[in-house]
Amino acid sequence: MSRIVYVNGQYLPEAEATVSIFDRGFLMADGVYEVTSVLGGKLLDFAGHQVRLARSLKELDIEAPCSDDELLEIHRELVARNDLTDGMIYLQVTRGNPGDRDFAFPDPATIKPTLVLFTQSKPGMADSPVAKTGIKVISIEDIRWGRRDIKTVQLLYPSMGKMMAKKAGADDAWMVEDGHVTEGTSNNAYIVKGGRIITRQLSNDILHGITRAAVLRFAKEAQMVVEERPFTIEEAKQADEAFFTSASAFVMPVVEIDGASLGNGTPGPVAKRLREIYLEESRKTAI
Ligand code: PDD
Repeated sequence: MSRIVYVNGQYLPEAEATVSIFDRGFLMADGVYEVTSVLGGKLLDFAGHQVRLARSLKELDIEAPCSDDELLEIHRELVARNDLTDGMIYLQVTRGNPGDRDFAFPDPATIKPTLVLFTQSKPGMADSPVAKTGIKVISIEDIRWGRRDIKTVQLLYPSMGKMMAKKAGADDAWMVEDGHVTEGTSNNAYIVKGGRIITRQLSNDILHGITRAAVLRFAKEAQMVVEERPFTIEEAKQADEAFFTSASAFVMPVVEIDGASLGNGTPGPVAKRLREIYLEESRKTAI
């Protein structure tokens, strides 16, 4: 069955969906995105993704392409039309197609944003086998721009980071700036030491993860101690355990950093517990 995708007001088979070669998303990476997980046909943390999308658009002076209600309606329609049980919905908004290449932004009164959404089916994604064994990360320098709080489609360096990890026999990379870990290529990074969960505080240096917000809330509700501060790779290598969070991986245990095994080299109890709590609680509030 061909996937049905959404482009600027239309639901189309993926092969018929097109965007102009002059679209600023294509020419300038002038766009933002969101990834929302779907479990059991329902959207996880939808309100959080909606709020962050609105913020990303505002920071870049891109008009909202539709209302919040319409956005929810499109997500639900895509879930229904593609019979999606478990997976993700990818959403992208760009500054649109000015009909030519120009560095200056087009007039928003005449050039409307481009809105694209599509589904990615991942049956059984909540039972991912890698979550049971944990993953390996390497550290790389963070050379991205200074507004990582905006979820832009400028993903070349994160893609290069994943390739560097792959080449080194690892699964992902944690990025380091001024000696401290910022975040993973597509996730927020955490270590656990003496029962304390340590993760970098929010700023323009990292994406304000929707999963991060939920996981920290659940951790505090479960009386776990959370310390929001930067940490180094050396500190991470000495940690009892480590993990990362993202909408697509939920809570993912990390068992090796730059070749050093953490704990006994298997997922730690805090990461495992937080994964369970996150999945359980976010399923309850899924819409
Ligand atoms: N990535 N940090 C970065 C750089 C990210 O790209 C992401 C998400 C996160 C976690 O944010 P959230 O919990 O809201 O998913 C942190 C998505 C999943 C992606 O690019 O596919």
